[in-house]
Amino acid sequence: MVAPFALPFGTMTTNRPRTLCIDIGGSGIKSMVLDPEGTPLVERQRLATPRPASPQAVLETIAQLAGEMGSFDRVSVGFPGVVDQGVVRTGVNLDGTWAGMPLAQAVSDLTGKPCRAANDADIQGYGAIEGLGVEMMITLGTGMGAAIFSDGKLVPNLELGHHPLAEGQSYEELLGQAALDRLGLEAWQGWLQRAIDTILPIWNPRVLYIGGGNARHLPGALPAKVQRVKNVAGILGGIRLWQNPS
Ligand code: BGC
Repeated sequence: MVAPFALPFGTMTTNRPRTLCIDIGGSGIKSMVLDPEGTPLVERQRLATPRPASPQAVLETIAQLAGEMGSFDRVSVGFPGVVDQGVVRTGVNLDGTWAGMPLAQAVSDLTGKPCRAANDADIQGYGAIEGLGVEMMITLGTGMGAAIFSDGKLVPNLELGHHPLAEGQSYEELLGQAALDRLGLEAWQGWLQRAIDTILPIWNPRVLYIGGGNARHLPGALPAKVQRVKNVAGILGGIRLWQNPS
């Protein structure tokens, strides 16, 4: 449940500020507008991620989506790489030219609204957590994202996906979309089990949330601490960026 914002005195409008939430993924870019309580105000839209996914091409796709979303007052962007103070540091599943890109500033210039940008798994985690104890998020899509929170406070840019999991291969090399395509569902689920068995006793989260498009391939029976979250958390978490330091 997202806590409501304190609106400035004299603001009588019930559903402002409206936040345009954008989620840049390796295969799709999604958008939605939320009211201050996190309630969606429009239908979620999705466009394919352009290839090559250069900053210019991705910004053009964001401009197109923003143009279809009605009015909004501010923007949150989830990005599939390390984002520090709104500036991109890595983007391994897009093209090679993102490092140093001032993403939040660029989207703000594009839309004329203030913008905050953060790592996509961090935002998805914001959309899933309860704010109690240690909570961890992993996302399964083109890449593997990870986020960790203590009493709702984020440690930004946990790049667990690029840490070795087994046989000299990283979590992302064994659990990303390419691994699912290459290994098949059964072997991929085996590596996912291995990842869960590795993460739980090391990080000791109260809850481990699993989201992203490929969370639909999770086996039916999950350990008690593991919860599947809907992909829409990647968008809904965008509102929390405005309740926490950028
Ligand atoms: C990136 C992470 C991102 C994840 C999911 C990884 O390759 O390094 O920053 O969160 O993919 O998009």
